[in-house]
Amino acid sequence: MGLLDGKVALITGAGGGLGEAYAKLFAREGAAVVVNDLGGPRDGSGSDKSMADKVVDAIKAEGGRAVANGADISTLAGGQSVFDDAIKHFGRADILVNNAGILLDETFHKAKEENWDRVMKVHLKGTFCCTQPVFKWMRDNGGGVIVNTSSTSGLIGNFGQTNYGAAKGGIWGLSNVLAIEGRKYNIRIWTLAPGALTRMTADLPRYKENPGAALGPDGIAPAVLYMVSDLSGDQTGKVLGVSGPRGVREMRMMEMEAGRRRSRDGRRRISSPTPRRSSSPKKRSRSRRGGSSKSWQMPFRCDARHRTGIDEPRARGQGLPDAQWRTGE
Ligand SMILES: NC(=O)c1ccc[n+]([C@@H]2O[C@H](COP(=O)([O-])OP(=O)(O)OC[C@H]3O[C@@H](n4cnc5c(N)ncnc54)[C@H](O)[C@@H]3O)[C@@H](O)[C@H]2O)c1
Repeated sequence: MGLLDGKVALITGAGGGLGEAYAKLFAREGAAVVVNDLGGPRDGSGSDKSMADKVVDAIKAEGGRAVANGADISTLAGGQSVFDDAIKHFGRADILVNNAGILLDETFHKAKEENWDRVMKVHLKGTFCCTQPVFKWMRDNGGGVIVNTSSTSGLIGNFGQTNYGAAKGGIWGLSNVLAIEGRKYNIRIWTLAPGALTRMTADLPRYKENPGAALGPDGIAPAVLYMVSDLSGDQTGKVLGVSGPRGVREMRMMEMEAGRRRSRDGRRRISSPTPRRSSSPKKRSRSRRGGSSKSWQMPFRCDARHRTGIDEPRARGQGLPDAQWRTGE
């Protein structure tokens, strides 16, 4: 029995990298998958539907169910077509992973309007275009799960990525509001900040210098499976960072709790937003970033030679920090 038996998953940008790993794992866990990918190089120029076709062929060869969609998800028509394919071929839309992305890095003083527009369009508008038809369907059909892909470049910042960081920060904001709007319809929303060695990150000095420190896409996929399956219960509105050196961690971008005080009559009030100085240098550096994260290591070996999986009975119902992970054969 798979964790996603009977579910239908829509994954954008699933012709390679992280999305491909999600599509293959979800299919192995019983989901029927719409594999969307426009194809082409990482700067978003060109198109190549064979990328999505290859992933679908691989899923079918393993006995899974999948259909390829080559639409550009940065348009309303493209987003609608991903949803339409799910309904046409499989009759449902239970899971959406907004994953498609491009990279056009440049320092801010050299930034071009055209690059700004293209990056915002694929990442931020693309998330809107794909989510709206799916959200409407989920609203009328008992709920579902949506994972939006952000990045530490937007949540924390990274040199040379103002366009990308702005789009990824915008996705975090969209997710926060969507989680509130989706709650009463049983629509759960996650924000993901992955860190993996793909074509998008292959030229980062930290991966070139120390390739062993990076997770491959197969090391990220089990955490996304956790997010979209019943293992994560009714959790919603959370940001998970998932990467090699740091494992899985919940990232709390606005740590309101620290400033909250209870008055004598038990009512909650918000104290002054001025941050109190933390005692340790580590805590001080975290508070300068305006948030906090709760870390735990994935207790499985994160290399591509191992099939990763989830120890379901131990993970179920325990909440993410206590979830246990194991390495398969
Ligand atoms: N790899 C990382 O460490 C990392 C870190 C932070 C965020 N991310 C995000 O994760 C997601 C996946 O990235 P990846 O590392 O697998 O890179 P990738 O380049 O391998 O995957 C992105 C995919 O999106 C597709 N795509 C691009 N524009 C599209 C469009 N308009 N319509 C449909 N498909 C389109 C590409 O063809 C590609 O297959 C991206 O959103 C990226 O920004 C990745």
